[in-house]
Amino acid sequence: MAFGRQLVSAQRSWSIITWRAASTTFKAADLQIELNKHPKEKPAVSSLVFGKTFTDHMLTIEWSNEKGWSKPQIKPFQNLSLHPASSALHYSVELYEGMKAYKGEDNQVRLFRPMMNMERMHRTALRACLPSFDKAEFLECLRRLIDIDRDWVPKSNTASLYIRPTFIGTEPSLGVTKSNHALLYVIICPVGPYFPSGGFNPVSLLADPKYVRAWMGGVGNYKLGGNYGPTIAVQYEASQLGCQQVLWLYGDNHEVTEAGTINFFMFWNNEQGEKELITPPLSGLILAGVTRQSLLDLARQWGEFKVSESTITMGDLIKGLQENRVKEVFGVGTACVVCPVSRILYNQKSYDIPTMENGPDIAKRFLKELTDIQYGRTNSEWAYLV
Ligand SMILES: Cc1ncc(COP(=O)(O)O)c(C=O)c1O
Repeated sequence: MAFGRQLVSAQRSWSIITWRAASTTFKAADLQIELNKHPKEKPAVSSLVFGKTFTDHMLTIEWSNEKGWSKPQIKPFQNLSLHPASSALHYSVELYEGMKAYKGEDNQVRLFRPMMNMERMHRTALRACLPSFDKAEFLECLRRLIDIDRDWVPKSNTASLYIRPTFIGTEPSLGVTKSNHALLYVIICPVGPYFPSGGFNPVSLLADPKYVRAWMGGVGNYKLGGNYGPTIAVQYEASQLGCQQVLWLYGDNHEVTEAGTINFFMFWNNEQGEKELITPPLSGLILAGVTRQSLLDLARQWGEFKVSESTITMGDLIKGLQENRVKEVFGVGTACVVCPVSRILYNQKSYDIPTMENGPDIAKRFLKELTDIQYGRTNSEWAYLV
């Protein structure tokens, strides 16, 4: 009897110990590092194709409901071994981030507002029922990874190192339920300039209302992998029709939302005759881009024209074009920073946008200000030293 009571109490304290040990975050101070003994030769920047060349190391951090977070590991870049039933593979329990490290003339490596990516990733993880983590600890682990592979950051004022934090459900079961196992990892790759010719080449967009990327109450404002796979067929259709990207519309009045993986901006004279920089609002349909926020912050600092986050319909855009009020249309995102738009194909009609004819003064000014910060030519608290 006494022995039985002792056993129960021992079991209870054991479960308290395991509960206490299930860590609610990992710590950068616990990083375990195994350096790659066979580093690869670094390719010439001119030969880089986006997302095909990876560096020598990766960061992995495992989580289970039972044990919590394990110690973060930086180790040689390698394949993952996954149970074939893993929830990421069946139900898209997968999310990611996209950010870049830039090497300046001074040889310093900088990230651009990385905490915004950490926050967006954390928000998305909770939406995917994946576990919480400490954003600052994750950023520090990521910084250590980039530091170890810092020679892979191209020394060029147009190339950079692309960083792909990824979070997947590794639940080894076919139940459509919350994952009790997950893997957070980061892979990185050197990337060449977005505009290889060194120019500022405009793109054309296909706006076809029969396709919808996101809807109210959906997950378009989260960086879930499941938002991207279904866009590939539409992107393919756009290229068959001679357009470079898809402009996603929403609702009966064909609201402009975003294009490809870029947020949409227009600089125009609005119907009230005011100069205005306008971008769609964060209504749940679009991703809250780091570049989008940075343009809004800069434009509000300049204080030279009205800055609005409000709905733009295709009707507004076409009326503005017909009345010569549209000056510049451009997309913004980590990949290109700023990408001018010269044409929109909508309801079988091609609409020319006079972005390039207008400089594009505003788009170029944003590009210069942001890249000056990224490559350390201007001091800014948005730059984060690695
Ligand atoms: C759908 C979508 N919109 C916009 C963006 C631009 O966001 P950011 O400026 O953070 O790169 C991205 C890229 O992450 C995206 O995937």
